[in-house]
Amino acid sequence: MPRRWNPCSYLPRRLQIVASLTAFVLLCILFLGTSSSDATVDPYIDQVPFGPRLQAGAHQVVDSLPKLPKELPYVNTPQWLNPFRGPAHTPPPEQANSSSGDTRWYSDFKWRNPFSSSVTLDEERALLPPLKERPPVYTYVDSAGRTKDEKSKAAEQELLLIWRRAWWASGFKPIVLSREEAIKNPHYSTVQALELEPELEMELMRWLAWGRMGTGILCNWLAVPMAAYDDALLGFLRRGEYPTLTRYDGLENGLFVGTKDDVQKTIKAVVSLPAITRVKSLVEAVPDGTFEVDNEHSGVAFYSTSTIAAKYNAIKVKLDKAETLPDGLAMLPPLINSHLHMTWQNTFTSGIAVLKPLPAHTTSLIEPAIDIARNLSQCPESPIPASCPPNRPKCKPCVSSQMVITTPPVFRNTSTLFTIATVPHPYTLNALLHGRDQLDTRFIRRETVRDNWMLAATKELLGTGLSSYARLVYLKDAVASPFGSSRSLWLNAETPRHADNTQDRDELDFLFGFKIPRDPMPNGQSETPVPGPERRPPRPKTEFGDGPSLSKEELAKEKKLLDKARLFISKAERGKGRKSGKKGQKDPFTSTKDVVEAWNLADAESWKFVRAWNARRRVERRSWEAEEEAFLGKGVIDRWMDKII
Ligand SMILES: *[C@@H]1O[C@H](CO)[C@@H](O)[C@H](O)[C@H]1NC(C)=O
Ligand SMILES: *[C@@H]1O[C@H](CO)[C@@H](O)[C@H](O)[C@H]1NC(C)=O
Ligand SMILES: *[C@@H]1O[C@H](CO)[C@@H](O)[C@H](O)[C@H]1NC(C)=O
Repeated sequence: MPRRWNPCSYLPRRLQIVASLTAFVLLCILFLGTSSSDATVDPYIDQVPFGPRLQAGAHQVVDSLPKLPKELPYVNTPQWLNPFRGPAHTPPPEQANSSSGDTRWYSDFKWRNPFSSSVTLDEERALLPPLKERPPVYTYVDSAGRTKDEKSKAAEQELLLIWRRAWWASGFKPIVLSREEAIKNPHYSTVQALELEPELEMELMRWLAWGRMGTGILCNWLAVPMAAYDDALLGFLRRGEYPTLTRYDGLENGLFVGTKDDVQKTIKAVVSLPAITRVKSLVEAVPDGTFEVDNEHSGVAFYSTSTIAAKYNAIKVKLDKAETLPDGLAMLPPLINSHLHMTWQNTFTSGIAVLKPLPAHTTSLIEPAIDIARNLSQCPESPIPASCPPNRPKCKPCVSSQMVITTPPVFRNTSTLFTIATVPHPYTLNALLHGRDQLDTRFIRRETVRDNWMLAATKELLGTGLSSYARLVYLKDAVASPFGSSRSLWLNAETPRHADNTQDRDELDFLFGFKIPRDPMPNGQSETPVPGPERRPPRPKTEFGDGPSLSKEELAKEKKLLDKARLFISKAERGKGRKSGKKGQKDPFTSTKDVVEAWNLADAESWKFVRAWNARRRVERRSWEAEEEAFLGKGVIDRWMDKII
């Protein structure tokens, strides 16, 4: 009877021994793997969703494996997320402009997947949400025939930069138009033939340029978005659909929206009016019912001449006299910039949280984030310090209530709190946690806990029961959803941020929509009552979170470890794809990094996600600037070009 249970027992005795031994060896290979340090044969990794290099053989193996034990990463991860099950067996195509240096990404609606590689089939290619379409917002600048002194010119260029930055940060694509575009409008010659009042002619030029470009927003370059990202008007404008030609009560001719058809029709109607040569403004000239008028809005501030006269007397008196006019103009950029900054500060009434999980060992890690937070909470320099923006008369000027900076060890999803998070590579984090300047495969596998950072950062938000893989979805949401991305800034701990690197600074300015204070106050004719450098807020008191205060030596040691880890990561990045040694083994740095990443799948995934998210943002802005050149390169704005490129 027992013969039946052992298939080998049908074989002759000697073969039975051979077959049993073979089966035993095969099982050993399958379940225990080898002890080689090469990550591809790590037995753990073989069972984990990790990259295409396993794809070929692995999915058959995995499919036929017995149910995975509880502690493996599929816990809490629904079956459909299993990367080995998807129908896709070829990586998705490369998209335009989807890489920057070492960083590559793929934008897709399926981005809420815990693991990018389950869609991209490539560990190095992060899966990001689709890039949001930015509706164009046009402004018209015509400096023809005007000779300007240097000071006024500089002020105008500064104002245009402020205008572009603020609209870009609110999710639009600002485009500066000039007479060139107006000339290309088919109605141009008709307008030229009429003898119009100069005001109306100027206004029509703007409309001609707008009509030439098409459906969108026409905006004066002294009108800027001055509200939280999710303000109702800005939300409507971002949708990019403008069914009716609309103007906004109180904004004079500062803001119009409409379709190309509506714009062209209106121009045509205006130029055929019999009394056209006597009217001064387009709004006055058009027949009733041309515009829909929106009375309920507060998202845009227009610094028109009449607004300045009514609200900012200190500037008005200068603008009134020809000899002080340049001084008056020069006061506008700092005024508008300070209002933008203050509006941002007023939005985040709970202050700035510099995320500091595992606080005992991450003080140097968050140093760049603290620096940014302090500058953001600083009171902006302003020619009229206690003034409010025209659209927000009830603002809280910074001088009366400064923003607080905290360093909580956990991520909090509060709508009035701005979070600056620093995501370390798991190699960096473990080097700091264990005080080691070198990690090897053995140490990582035996001594380190997986996905430390993720578990610590989301402990409050998601409790302790969830696997780190399920947490990834929430973290990605916090980084990249519209709600999350307008309330947080995510940095990679290894990306060097040079204080004097103008590109880094520009990047941040365009992200926030205003120039972040970074210089000690300029000397001389300071009109602000508050003296210079002291306005920079002190380091936050809670700097060390719930961790211990570090001594100078401990801090120095931590800093050294961090520098070493950064160096390691950059070497490992450079070693990617490079082979070393006789047998064409992987670069040793890269292979250690791969092992660390395989051991900390969730932490590595969030690090790559954040890196790609920031890289794509940079690439998006660069390609807009390249596109802008087509409009700006025509001599309208001369010196301004060197400033932004
Ligand atoms: C944060 O809260 C908002 C709104 O309450 C919600 O839509 C969002 O999903 C939350 N984000 C995370 C990461 O939990
Ligand atoms: C913050 O301001 C200080 C000077 O107050 C400056 O040195 C530093 O570069 C600024 N940092 C950023 C990120 O703007
Ligand atoms: C990619 O970037 C280039 C400039 O860097 C730009 O001309 C091009 O339009 C961009 N392509 C897309 C699809 O955005």
